[in-house]
Amino acid sequence: MKSYKLAFFCLIISLNSLSADSDKKVFETYCWGCHHQTAEAFGPSFEEISSKRTAQEIKAMIIDPKSVSKIFGYSRNAMPPFKLTHDELNKITEYILSFNKDKTIKKAQ
Ligand code: HEC
Repeated sequence: MKSYKLAFFCLIISLNSLSADSDKKVFETYCWGCHHQTAEAFGPSFEEISSKRTAQEIKAMIIDPKSVSKIFGYSRNAMPPFKLTHDELNKITEYILSFNKDKTIKKAQ
């Protein structure tokens, strides 16, 4: 029974690393339709976001855009909430912040 559990655990780990193997892939899977790296699309570009938001703010927006977009000053919210794994959330946040040209602004923590 114990080894069965261990095997299952290993399967989950390997599936997880398969589905989130690159930061760019997470972005392309969930965000590409509305956000582009450097050009404004339906939502602001990652370059713009990374210049004004911290890792904490970006994560909050992905999990709960309805409340956070109000705090950010948007009059309406057009971004859907995402249920990402902890790993995906970290990867996408790092990816967004990698577009920050001015490295003096707060980086991911
Ligand atoms: C259906 C379109 C859509 C998708 C898909 C989408 N967004 Fe957004 N996003 C928006 C829009 C539109 C805004 C502007 C605020 C608003 O209207 O709520 C926004 C705003 C944001 C902001 C805050 C911008 C600011 O002012 O700092 C962040 C961060 C963000 N999106 C990240 C993401 C990430 C990461 C993903 C993928 C996991 C994603 N978005 C997927 C439409 C989308």
